Amino acid sequence: MDYQGLLEEVATHVAPHIGQGEVAQYIPALASVDPRRFGIAVADVDGTVTGVGDWEVPFSVQSISKAFSLALVLEQDGERIWRRVGREPSGNPFNSLVQLEYENGIPRNPFINAGALVVTDRLQTLTGDASTTMLEFLRAESGNPDLAFDQAVAASESEHGDRNAALAHFMASYGNLDNPVTTVLEHYFWQCSIEMSCRDLAVAGGFLARHGLRADGSRLLSPRQAKRINAVMLTCGTYDAAGDFAYRVGLPGKSGVGGGIVAVIPGRCTLCVWSPGLDARGNSVAGMAALDHFTTLTGWSVF
Ligand code: DON
Repeated sequence: MDYQGLLEEVATHVAPHIGQGEVAQYIPALASVDPRRFGIAVADVDGTVTGVGDWEVPFSVQSISKAFSLALVLEQDGERIWRRVGREPSGNPFNSLVQLEYENGIPRNPFINAGALVVTDRLQTLTGDASTTMLEFLRAESGNPDLAFDQAVAASESEHGDRNAALAHFMASYGNLDNPVTTVLEHYFWQCSIEMSCRDLAVAGGFLARHGLRADGSRLLSPRQAKRINAVMLTCGTYDAAGDFAYRVGLPGKSGVGGGIVAVIPGRCTLCVWSPGLDARGNSVAGMAALDHFTTLTGWSVF
């Protein structure tokens, strides 16, 4: 497969969309990112990585981290997490509070902020240091030992974290957090602040395309667990745009307000696209367009 030619064609096609949308404003440290950035990378299951544009420029992974924290918790703790978080699409914005009350403090899925806070809480209980565990895991899976937290982003989010604090306190009132709210929030903000490039994320997500196998052939997850993460990414990974994402792209995907989206083509490759301009639902405008065009050109949607 001529990935280079394919990605260049995708980049040319989406050029008019680059810079469209709004860079995330509610985390002030993210608001200063150049909206005209665009990069895309493909990591084939055979280990080849190809990219175009800003594919080696690190950006804030934000909610993309939630796919990896779920993988770690499933790997270390099996299915127990599903007693505390559901796996249905929420149909609501990623930071919404409304469902939590009438669903008794059990978040709809592990990718909305409430659900990700529960997953981070469990990872904290399992490891004693959720965010460092995440950083080390991502360094190992991406093969990039230089990955780091962006302290300014973590601090900025913490300073403006009233919404996440409300979600966490609310769940704590239902007994759905084991660790102190401040501890859970701190580890969650740190995990979201990790900086990775399209290359790093496509490589790190390779186990999702390899049915749970790492690049070196060792097993991280069972094929069943990998299938499940991909399924939740497909149905919940882009929040209240998950239907539109399935319609346009047709792949398991996980977005972040840093403007990145990771998408998985099981058995074939993992993609990561980045462009910071977001639509109203917090997903990269050019990123969605790029993945839409990629699956249209290749016919590689899961549908
Ligand atoms: O908690 C937050 O609001 C951010 N750290 C992450 C949100 C996010 O990336 C949603 N994704 N599109």
